[in-house]
Amino acid sequence: MNKERYSKKLELIKEAGNFRVLRDTVHNGFLIHVDGREMLNLSSNDYLGLSSNPRLIEEFRSETDVMAYSAASSRLLSGNHQYYKMLEDDLASLYDKESALVFNSGYHANIGILPALTGKRDLIIADKLVHASIIDGLRLSDAQMVRYRHLDYEHLQSLLMQHREEYENVFIVTESVFSMDGDVADLQQLCEIKKEFDAFLYVDEAHAIGVRGTNGLGCCEEQACTEEIDFIVGTFGKAFASMGAFVVCEELFREYLINTQRSLIFTTALPPVNVAWTRFILNRMPDFYDLRIKLAEVSERLRHVLIAKGFETRGSSHIVPMVCGSNENSLDMAGMLQDNGFFALPVRYPTVPKNEARIRFSLNASIPIEDYECLFEFLGCLE
Ligand SMILES: Cc1ncc(COP(=O)(O)O)c(C=O)c1O
Repeated sequence: MNKERYSKKLELIKEAGNFRVLRDTVHNGFLIHVDGREMLNLSSNDYLGLSSNPRLIEEFRSETDVMAYSAASSRLLSGNHQYYKMLEDDLASLYDKESALVFNSGYHANIGILPALTGKRDLIIADKLVHASIIDGLRLSDAQMVRYRHLDYEHLQSLLMQHREEYENVFIVTESVFSMDGDVADLQQLCEIKKEFDAFLYVDEAHAIGVRGTNGLGCCEEQACTEEIDFIVGTFGKAFASMGAFVVCEELFREYLINTQRSLIFTTALPPVNVAWTRFILNRMPDFYDLRIKLAEVSERLRHVLIAKGFETRGSSHIVPMVCGSNENSLDMAGMLQDNGFFALPVRYPTVPKNEARIRFSLNASIPIEDYECLFEFLGCLE
């Protein structure tokens, strides 16, 4: 056995300013306690602040009698409790699609759907900045894989012109709101391209569902192209304050995935109580319109503050990056923010490209505006 290679690798990770630890945290709404310090939590994906909304939790408790805290088997065995069907029926009807299928997480969805649907005769063509879970799915697929430059649809078109004829099925894959840059895909344009080249379009709405669109159905709703997108994937662990994920698609594909998707078949199903909570939130999503507006406004202000101070930022969503350059710079900035009561974590290489390490502000609509003002004031005073 050779254990030395693990310690050596850890040393290298430390030298690169990339060493990660799991912190003990205590949560109190939008506040987080770490190492005895209370801070504003600007690093959670609880974008609407629903995870600690006492009214919602009370309402859910009073109207549900679900007591099942474990599904105790895979959905394909005995774990497919009735709440799954109820949630899937609601999703299909809200998106006006033939069907929906629920998974344990976005990670399970992204590592499972594409490998199940694609084979050697197919091509997956993905945006350069898609999430690690999609990349892992691409690695598990037998299909050929090509990446187009981030949001560069001319590049996508030229790759399709070059390669479309060589393959039976082509899947164009993108996120709608990108998780690290907070920028937004032009789904209308992607729908045009997919039609022109007779390809499928797969859109991961992990960071958009709940947050974008009048009813919180995501960018597909906002950009009025739900109907044309073949596979809309959403996750419940972010704005939905729950756990799990879904795809809405044609019934043919739902049946195919149930029969072939390994990350659906070979895992214990989500706890029924969790599925019931997700459905409870889903049916209230239209009510949170004001929170979506507040989130958009406060994000815009943060971007202005950063730009006015000469920082590089990107995107047009509630994920607001503050680009710091090296891993070390981002660690220093995160330390300064924490010393002043703002818990906003650095994202470093290799999660983002080299020398693009950043603070990733991930905003929460339940944080009072006065607290955001303190953040803006602090950033405005940075040397
Ligand atoms: C774009 C995207 N897709 C999928 C996931 C994974 O979702 P989950 O946390 O439900 O596994 C993430 C996680 O952050 C993500 O950013």
